[in-house]
Amino acid sequence: MENKNILIVDDEKIMRELLEETIRRMGFPADTADDGSVAIQKIKSNNYDLIITDLKMPKVSGMDVLKTAKVELPDAAVVILTAYGTIENAVEAVKLGAYDYLTKDEKFNPDVIEMMVKKVFNYLDLKKENRYLKEEISSQYRYDNIIGKSTKMLKIFDTLRAIADSSATVFIQGASGTGKELVARALHYNSSRCNKPFIKTNCAALPEGLMESELFGHEKGAFTGAIRTRQGRFEAANGGTLLLDEISEMSPALQAKLLRVLQEKEFEKVGNTKPIKVDVRIIATTNKDIREEIKKGRFREDLFYRLNVIPIFIPPLKERKKDIPLLVEHFIKKYNKAHNRNIKGISKDALELLMRLDWPGNVRELENRVERAVIMSKQEILEPMHFIFEGDSFDSIIDYDSEDTNVTLREMEKQLIFRTLRNYNNNRSKTAEILGISVRTLRNKLNEYKEKGELDPYFMKGK
Ligand SMILES: Nc1ncnc2c1ncn2[C@@H]1O[C@H](COP(=O)(O)OP(=O)(O)OP(=O)(O)O)[C@@H](O)[C@H]1O
Ligand SMILES: [Mg+2]
Repeated sequence: MENKNILIVDDEKIMRELLEETIRRMGFPADTADDGSVAIQKIKSNNYDLIITDLKMPKVSGMDVLKTAKVELPDAAVVILTAYGTIENAVEAVKLGAYDYLTKDEKFNPDVIEMMVKKVFNYLDLKKENRYLKEEISSQYRYDNIIGKSTKMLKIFDTLRAIADSSATVFIQGASGTGKELVARALHYNSSRCNKPFIKTNCAALPEGLMESELFGHEKGAFTGAIRTRQGRFEAANGGTLLLDEISEMSPALQAKLLRVLQEKEFEKVGNTKPIKVDVRIIATTNKDIREEIKKGRFREDLFYRLNVIPIFIPPLKERKKDIPLLVEHFIKKYNKAHNRNIKGISKDALELLMRLDWPGNVRELENRVERAVIMSKQEILEPMHFIFEGDSFDSIIDYDSEDTNVTLREMEKQLIFRTLRNYNNNRSKTAEILGISVRTLRNKLNEYKEKGELDPYFMKGK
């Protein structure tokens, strides 16, 4: 803990000595004042981190000390001392910005003082740590909008810098939510192609026939429904970048055609034999284990080698937990702006919680959690509770083995239903099957939870 400057204000000598002695034993020297007017003078000329002040004093009150401190030393914490029976005033002081208050009753002793001082110091340290939120994340730990400080991410940044200006094909592998599309966009917008189009195609989205004309275009009359000639995405991306998302889902026939296009750098529209030449940088992604797909005969090995000129593998978040604090910081800022909030940071406990989790949904899941926390929190610092939601499948948070037997069968059942729904992407028939109940029973239960306001709206959208 860093050094701290403390001011003790009380007209009673005994009190001043008790506080001073307690704090000295904690290893901190303290300054004292026997009246509000003296305190105000000191506050105007010195720097304090913590001011402990009595409320009722003969000449100038603790309330005035508080007001001065708020103006002169806005970062200092003020703790109010109040006699038994005047708590209302102390509460008033907290509303005006005091950190907390201590009541001088029979329980008032060195232990109570020490606990409060420790609490304040923790809070001050935390505030300091979170000051980074006002600053930009160092350029060393970001490439465009990609954030990270783990060795693995820093290596990826190096690769991205090195290849930005080449036209070589890039193959990005990584689980869902690890940032593949983000990396693809960063590559395009940091290349000399940045003023030309960035075109994204999801290879899993369309049936084979449509996909071919989607990629390469078609001539009028090439097939039923082709009422006019249409440009494909290869042509649309000319001069720029074409992202082939989820390439492992591409049909074998299209894989063969793509291979030829990559070899010959030209293609034909559906229904036309005239070759078209284009200058397109290809970026392909997959969240599958592509070598496994090759082994199983689902993906052409020759196409893989064509695409895999520059391989980028983005590891799952659980293998680079060092990135979590920086990502959290980045997302708090992002969603402060988007939702017009003013979250100042995250508590140590909450960050520790996030670091413990395995994040099967990777960065996307972390981002969603932080966004929800930013929206829900009524405090400036995010605490663990802001990251836990009704019906949550945060298995590591909900301690199913705990000794806590104060939970009803109904509650257990509800949690189990929520957990299963989440695990199966809100699929009701699958969930009912797993739980051994009918879809109708499941629907009735969900309706009951909904009526009682116990249901996350996410679960009402289930099919
Ligand atoms: N390193 C990172 N820094 C900042 N934001 C990130 C990072 N990685 C991912 N994100 C964010 O997480 C979300 C998911 O990223 P993205 O869509 O690129 O993932 P993906 O790998 O393409 O996932 P999928 O396989 O499901 O399509 C996006 O909002 C993205 O901005
Ligand atoms: Mg994606």
